[in-house]
Amino acid sequence: MADKTGVLVLNGPNLNMLGTRDPEIYGHTTLAEIEATCVEHGQTLGLTVSCRQSNHEGELVGWIQEARGSMGGLIVNAGALTHSSVAILDALSIADMPIVEVHLSNIFARESFRHHSYISPVATGVICGLGAQGYILALDAIARLTGQKSKGK
Ligand code: DQA
Repeated sequence: MADKTGVLVLNGPNLNMLGTRDPEIYGHTTLAEIEATCVEHGQTLGLTVSCRQSNHEGELVGWIQEARGSMGGLIVNAGALTHSSVAILDALSIADMPIVEVHLSNIFARESFRHHSYISPVATGVICGLGAQGYILALDAIARLTGQKSKGK
């Protein structure tokens, strides 16, 4: 049975390099810092956040499959695989939970090959261009979508 309070934050190729990778595009925040903030923010929302990153498409597909039936929501930044991976699209399309696609950069203000996402058609929503804050906004959205956000907020 899906634990609606469990949220998987999934990051794809090269996002382990955040902090040193093109900081003028992606900012100075490291992935470890983003993940720690997600866990902390999740606690304030009553969500248990698990974070994973891989440079390998198949590993990401495996984790999406595992999340199916065990997690309440999924936040995914598939990195460059956003623009190429039918395998990730297929895995997400049967995940059966709210999915928020996140990109640190505004992919529509960049090279044209970044304008198309294979993932967006199966995402509940998409956040891009807001840097690390995008993950926090995605968690807020998941909390509302799963009904976990504490009353009155
Ligand atoms: C990215 C945008 C992608 O085009 C790029 O390949 C990434 C990061 C982003 O977070 O802005 O690796 O997903």
